Amino acid sequence: MGSAADFADARARAAALAGRTSFRIGGVPELLFEPATVAEVAEVVVACKAARVPLRVLGGGCNLLVADGPLPGAVLATTRLRHERVLDDRVEVGAGGSFPGLVSRAAELSIPTLSGCPGIPGQVGGVVAMNAGGRFGYVADALLEVFAVDLDGRPFARVVEPGDLGYRTSVFLGAAVVVAASFRRDRSLDRDAERRRFLEASAWKRSTQPMSAASAGCVFKNPPGGRSAGAIIDAAGLKGERVGGAMVSPVHANYIVNDADATFADVEALIGRVRERVASLTGVHLELEVQVWR
Ligand code: EPU
Repeated sequence: MGSAADFADARARAAALAGRTSFRIGGVPELLFEPATVAEVAEVVVACKAARVPLRVLGGGCNLLVADGPLPGAVLATTRLRHERVLDDRVEVGAGGSFPGLVSRAAELSIPTLSGCPGIPGQVGGVVAMNAGGRFGYVADALLEVFAVDLDGRPFARVVEPGDLGYRTSVFLGAAVVVAASFRRDRSLDRDAERRRFLEASAWKRSTQPMSAASAGCVFKNPPGGRSAGAIIDAAGLKGERVGGAMVSPVHANYIVNDADATFADVEALIGRVRERVASLTGVHLELEVQVWR
C-alpha cells in the first residue's frame, strides 16, 4: 500500500458507486480515495490538483444521483473520517460519522435541536455541506464550527456565521472537503422534551415520507414562496408515475424511488417528465435539489 493519495491504489479500490448511494445507482469512478485523517485528505486534494484530475466528495451518498457507466475523475469518500470528541460545551464529530447515529444521541449529549432531525440519512459532512433539515430542526441550528480542507489542500476551521448555510446549501458545498464539525452542547437542555421531540418527529417522518425505499430524498427544491414541490407534483397527478424501475413515490411526490433496479437514465427521464408536466400545468420550473454526477 502506498500513501493515501496513491493513484494505483485508488484505481484498484474504485467500485460501482451504486453500493455507496441511497438510490443504489451509480457507476465506477476512475479513482476512489478513502483518507482517514485531515492530513491524508489534504494529500489527496493536492495530488489530484497537481494531476489535474477533477475531485468529487462523497459523504453518505444520500442526496446524490450518479450516472451509470464509468465516472470520470476521482471521488474522495469521507467514510473513514470518524473521530468523536465530547467536550464540555461541544461535541466534535468526523465528517464520516453517521448523522442518524448523532441525532439518536442528541438528547443524551445535550445537543439542542438535532433531536428534530430523525430520518435524515447520511454522514455528518454531507449533511453539513447540504444543510439538511426539516420542519422539526435544521443542522444549522446546532452547528458551531466546521473543519475543512480547501481546494488547494489547506486545512481550515470556520466558526459558522449566519449566512454560511442556506436552504439545502452552504459555503462549503463544492468549495471544500468538510472533515469534521462541532455541535453546541447546552447542559441545561430539557432532555425529556428532546426525546419527545425525537419520537414525534420520527413518527411524523415515517407517516409522510417513504423512509425505507431506495431514494435520494426530495428530488426538487421547494420553489420560492413557501410552496412544497411535493404538493405541486402531487396536484399534477404524478404520484405513481413510472419510467422503468423509477417511480414517483405514492407517499411523497417529491421522492423518486428505485423499486425495480432503476438505471440513471430511468430516473433522469422521470425527472424530465415531472418537470415538463409541472411546468405546462402550473408554469413552475422545478430546480433539482439532488446533486447529479455524470
Ligand atoms: N404534500 C402533498 N403531497 C405530497 C407531498 C406533500 O400534498 O406528495 C403536502 C403535505 O401534505 C403538506 C405540504 O405538502 O401539507 C408540505 O409537505 P412536507 O411537510 O412533506 O414538506 P415539503 O416542503 O414537501 C420539505 C423538505 C423535506 C423535509 C420536509 C419536512 C424540501 C425539498 N423538502 O418537504 O426534505 O423532510 O420539508 O420538513 O425542502 C429532503 O430534502 O430530501 C427532504 C425530504
